[in-house]
Amino acid sequence: MSAYIPENKKKVTALRLREMKATGEKIAMLTAYDYTTAGIIDAAGIDVILVGDSASNVMLGHQTTLPITLDEMTVFAGAVARAAGRALVVCDMPFGTYQVSREEAIRNAVKIIQKTGVDAVKLEGGQNIAETVRGIVDCGIPVMGHLGLTPQSINAFGTYAVRAREQAEAERLVADAHALEAAGCFAIVLEKIPAVLTARVVKELSIPVIGIGGGEADGQVLVIDDMLGKNPDFKPKFVRRYADLHSVMTDAVGAYVTDVKNTAFPSADERY
Ligand code: KIV
Repeated sequence: MSAYIPENKKKVTALRLREMKATGEKIAMLTAYDYTTAGIIDAAGIDVILVGDSASNVMLGHQTTLPITLDEMTVFAGAVARAAGRALVVCDMPFGTYQVSREEAIRNAVKIIQKTGVDAVKLEGGQNIAETVRGIVDCGIPVMGHLGLTPQSINAFGTYAVRAREQAEAERLVADAHALEAAGCFAIVLEKIPAVLTARVVKELSIPVIGIGGGEADGQVLVIDDMLGKNPDFKPKFVRRYADLHSVMTDAVGAYVTDVKNTAFPSADERY
C-alpha cells in the first residue's frame, strides 16, 4: 500500500486548484466511472476525478465518445460523486447536451449537478462555446474547458493525431484558451498538442492547465484504464502504465476457473 498522503486534506475546490498553480504544486487528475474505483483513487491522494465521456469507450464499448447519453453519464457520475471525499469531481457534458443552445446547455449542466452531486462540469471547445460557459458559470457551476484533440470533434478532425502543430491552429488554440479563462473556466485540459504550445498556454493563463499528451503543465490527467494497463492493445506514447491489470485479472480469473473445475474452491474453510 503506497497511497500519496496530501499535506492539505481538505476537500479540493476550484479555488484550491488555482492556489496550487500559484504555488507550483502539481495537480494529479484521473478518470473514474464507478464507486469502488473512485473510492480507491480518492483515498490514494488524487486531487481531481474526471467522470470522462471516455466512459463511452471504456465502460460501454463504443468506438467514440459520441454515443454516450446524459442519462448514462449521470449514472457513472453519481456513483463517483458518492465515493469521493477529498477529490474535486468533474463530469463531462456529453456530446449534444451543450452545443444546440446556451439555454439547453445551462439546463443540462444544472441537471448533472442536481442529479449526481459532482462539483463541476467539463465542456469541449473554445471561443465557439464561450457564451455558453459564461451562462453555466453564472449559475454557480464551475466549468473546466478542454482544447486540442477534443474527441467529440473526431468526425470533423478525421484522426486522433496530435493537434495544433501548424502555426494557425496553435494561435487559434491560444486565443480559445484566453476566451475560456475570460468566460470563467476554473481550469482547462489540453489534449495531445506539442509540449511547447502547452508551456505557452500555462505561462499565459492564470487558471490551471491540465495536460494529457501535451507535456508538462500545471497538472496531468490520464484515463484510469490506460494507466492501469487494462487494455494491452492501447498504448499511445503519452500513456505511462503504472500496473498491468490485464495480466493480473487474467491470471486471477484463470486461477479461479481452474479451482472451480478441480473442486479446489470452495475449501472446507470457505463454506458454512
Ligand atoms: O473523457 C475523458 O476521459 C477526457 C480526458 C481524456 C481528459 O476528457
